[in-house]
Amino acid sequence: MINQSSSPLAKHLVNTLRDEQCDAMAFRHGLKELAKLLLAEAVESLPLVERKIPTWQGSFVGTFVDESRVVCISILRAALPMQEGVLEVLTDAKGGFLAMKRDERTHESRLYYDRIPDLKGKTVIVVDPMVATGGSLHDALTIIGERGPDAIVSLNVIGAKEGVERVSSAFPGVSIHIAQIDPHLNTDAYIVPGLGDAGDRAFNTPDSD
Ligand code: PRP
Ligand code: URA
Repeated sequence: MINQSSSPLAKHLVNTLRDEQCDAMAFRHGLKELAKLLLAEAVESLPLVERKIPTWQGSFVGTFVDESRVVCISILRAALPMQEGVLEVLTDAKGGFLAMKRDERTHESRLYYDRIPDLKGKTVIVVDPMVATGGSLHDALTIIGERGPDAIVSLNVIGAKEGVERVSSAFPGVSIHIAQIDPHLNTDAYIVPGLGDAGDRAFNTPDSD
């Protein structure tokens, strides 16, 4: 299911990232803040637990996210600041990594590293700022789904309409929380207007291929 954020704060942060003058540090910071905001919007899909804690007024029973059942998986590289944002909030959740690189000629993504903890009984939060053709997220969800988690939530910053719809129709059980859906892809499969190459902008490598 696709959930596009209606938050003006999300729009503010996305549009700040679109600005060419947003440097690498500000770009990473914006991705991290967007991840926290999207996480708040996705909380209904996360496992909750009632827990008794000691407080200055004696014991108190309250609702918590069951962090022991959450794994946040980033699709390298551009998702690293988003993963940091999620793990700053859910401090006892586990982290996993899928390293993928899109071939800029064929636009197909290729997995070159994977390090994911056991997903049985877990809710996975997969993060990637960009959903262009949707190929990278599609392949990541295939790999994650094969490891048997209870549920999968995807947090994304900008998607092209066609890429997001492709992923959503292939994985109808995945809750996609996205800050902004842009109209289309250009002939190089970049999102328009988008924000350019998110990995290069986050890590200050404007000339990488
Ligand atoms: C970017 C982005 C997504 C992917 C989206 O990563 O972070 O993972 O492209 O494109 P798609 O939907 O068409 O697959 P990229 O492969 O450029 O790697 P990088 O983060 O290392 O730059
Ligand atoms: N990857 C990006 O980082 N940006 C796009 O627009 C498409 C793929």
